[in-house]
Amino acid sequence: MSRTGDSQRSVEARQPAGDRPGHLGFIMDGNGRWAQQRQLPRTDGHAEGAEALRRVLRLAREQEIAEVTCFALSTENSEQRPAEELEFLYELLADHLEQEREEMERLQICFRAIGRLQELPRRLIDAIEKAQSETSEHQGLVFRLAVNYGGRAEMADAFCSAGAGDRSLIGAQKESALAAQLYDPAMPDLDLLVRTGGEMRLSNFLLWHSSYAELYFTPVLWPDFAAADFTAALEEYSRRSRRFGSVSSTTSGGDA
Ligand code: FPP
Repeated sequence: MSRTGDSQRSVEARQPAGDRPGHLGFIMDGNGRWAQQRQLPRTDGHAEGAEALRRVLRLAREQEIAEVTCFALSTENSEQRPAEELEFLYELLADHLEQEREEMERLQICFRAIGRLQELPRRLIDAIEKAQSETSEHQGLVFRLAVNYGGRAEMADAFCSAGAGDRSLIGAQKESALAAQLYDPAMPDLDLLVRTGGEMRLSNFLLWHSSYAELYFTPVLWPDFAAADFTAALEEYSRRSRRFGSVSSTTSGGDA
């Protein structure tokens, strides 16, 4: 058989990723640079970022993606960003949740927030709780927002809640016990994680759930992330081969 034939057969034998990711994550990076490029305040970049989020949720719904989780604010951001920027972001998030009520109804979005929510300002906590309760029956798309969220903080919190010392658990039971204490135990593993803005790191986002996620990095700044960029990420995902630790019959080496 020709070389072309061999390589074709090997590609076919790998487990395909499937047409679309069931759970799609976004690290929405680049708002500040988008604003800077236009000599605008950083906060204008965040406001435009909220528009990009609206766009992406519509696209995800059109593509029948089941769950989308977006990183809005990390525990590190909460500690290190200027107070005025944080206040703007808290207000923007609360306003966004209130203004998007009709859209969440129309798209049948079930909204959930994850993170150390109890540390957020009261108005934002109220807006989150209201949006969660109003959308809890929606069946179209689960949309999670990570706010004051850190992957290590989530695991540390879960570890404490799970009772770190239960030695009677064996094997996978230990992982299940910990997973049951994560911020949203119903959240599945990520299939595809997209990071905009050119950096190639996880920045403490969904460390538990991204163990086997396909990673996709793009230099496009979040406010510029358009339908074509969304499609490109999904197309790349559909070309990936996912093995979850197994080996395919025709490939050697590489067990991840
Ligand atoms: C990272 O850009 C973005 C954030 C820290 C905030 C994310 C918020 C949004 C996308 C908009 C608000 C969302 C909602 C739900 C209303 P950066 O400021 O770190 O950008 P830079 O790396 O260019 O400085």
